Amino acid sequence: MTGDGLFDIARSAEVVNARIDDSVSPRLADVMRVVTRHAHAAIKEAAITQDEWMAAIGFLTQTGHMSNDWRQEFVLLSDVLGISMLVDGLNHQRPAGATENTVLGPFHVANAPRRQLGDSISADNKGEPTLVIGRVTDTAGRPIAGATLDVWQANDDGFYDVQQPDAQPKWNLRGVFETDAEGRYWFTSVKPRFYPIPDDGPVGTLLRALGRHPFRPAHLHFIVGAPGYDEAVTHIFVPDCPYLHQDPVFGVKPSLIADFQHTVDKAEQGQYGFSGPFWKVEWNFILDGARP
Ligand code: BEZ
Ligand code: FE
Repeated sequence: MTGDGLFDIARSAEVVNARIDDSVSPRLADVMRVVTRHAHAAIKEAAITQDEWMAAIGFLTQTGHMSNDWRQEFVLLSDVLGISMLVDGLNHQRPAGATENTVLGPFHVANAPRRQLGDSISADNKGEPTLVIGRVTDTAGRPIAGATLDVWQANDDGFYDVQQPDAQPKWNLRGVFETDAEGRYWFTSVKPRFYPIPDDGPVGTLLRALGRHPFRPAHLHFIVGAPGYDEAVTHIFVPDCPYLHQDPVFGVKPSLIADFQHTVDKAEQGQYGFSGPFWKVEWNFILDGARP
C-alpha cells in the first residue's frame, strides 16, 4: 500500500485504489482502478454537491426498484446513455460488408415458434402487409444453408406482445426461420412503426429532464446465426421514419437502413399470399466466420 492510507481530496482515487489487495484478479483490479479514477475525476470536474449526490443515489435506487424479470431498467439506462452500443461496438468489430450488430433491447424472447419459409409472423393482422426476403451468406457471398433467423418486432400500436399479454396473441410478431439450400429466407409481416421505449420509470424521467424523447425509429429485430459463424444481433430500419436520426438508444447505423418498396404487382401479390399492395424489403445478412 502506498502513502499513509488516509483520505485526501487531491489523491482521492489513488488512496482508494491502493486498498485493492495484490491477490485479487488482475482484471478486476484493473477495471476497478479505472472506474474509480474516472468517477472521482467526474465528481471533481462537475463539483457535485451533497444534494446532487443524494439525488443520484435516489435515482439509482429507483432504477433498482423498477427492475424485475421483464423490466430491466439498468439495461435501459445503459441503452439511453449510449453505453450498450459502445460495449457492443467495441466487442463486435467485423470486416467491411459483414452485417453489423446493434442493440438487443429488452424484448427478445428465447424459443419463439419455428416457422416455415413464407409464413406470416403477424397474428393480429394489424398494419400494412410486408414481405421480408433475402439471403444469408458469408463474406465471400457464398450462401449459408440452414442459418437461423430469429425475428421480432412491435405491433402496429407500438407494443411488443410481452408488453400486452392480455391484448395480443401469444408470440405475435415473432418467429424463427431457417434458410433453404440456397441461403434464402422469406416471410410476411407488417411494416414496423416507431414506438416509445418504456418511459414510465426513472429512465423516462431522466430523458424528459434532458429534453429527450423516447421514440425508437421503426425497425425489425433479428438474431441471425449459423454454426461456425459470428452471430449477428441486428435490426432492419425503415428509411422514412421521422425518428431515424434521433434513436434514444443510438442503435441506427447507416448499413442497417433498408429500402421498403411499395409493390402493386398482382403476380407477386399472389405469389406471396397478399390480397392487395404490400411493402417489400429485400435484405441480405452477411455473417463473418467465427473468430478462434
Ligand atoms: C427495442 O428495440 O426493443 C429496445 C431497445 C432498447 C431499449 C428499449 C427497447
Ligand atoms: Fe425494438
